[in-house]
Amino acid sequence: MPHLVNDEELLAAAKAARASAYAPYSKFAVGAALLTAEGEVFTGCNVENLSFGLTVCAERNAVFAAVNAGRRSFLRIAVCADSKEPVAPCGACRQVLAEFAPDVEVISITLTGDEYRARMSELLPRSRAGILG
Ligand code: THU
Repeated sequence: MPHLVNDEELLAAAKAARASAYAPYSKFAVGAALLTAEGEVFTGCNVENLSFGLTVCAERNAVFAAVNAGRRSFLRIAVCADSKEPVAPCGACRQVLAEFAPDVEVISITLTGDEYRARMSELLPRSRAGILG
């Protein structure tokens, strides 16, 4: 198995991914880096659109990149933005992350180094309860 990247490396990947953000409307660039159970890292950035509702967040783009490559098992996701406090994934991203990793660890950092950690089970509790029997 490839070596599992440590938090510092995962956070650095999220920060690097942020450089690709397409955010001309909000001017709020976000990067995400998703660590798979196989030890690989898939990154994403937010991609906005003139039709604002079509915007896709960095976290979902990272998940979709990984799933497109055949990976569905995730350990951790790092998120990086230039905000006062670390951003928390939006509701849509929580739902998409929970689809594959209901207890994935989320680490969010600001450019000044503030950090917030949570598990998806805290951010989106009972995400599968009662739905599929
Ligand atoms: N955004 C993300 O990509 N991830 C987050 O966790 C928070 C919000 C994006 C969506 C939009 O392009 C911009 O940040 C402002 O909300």
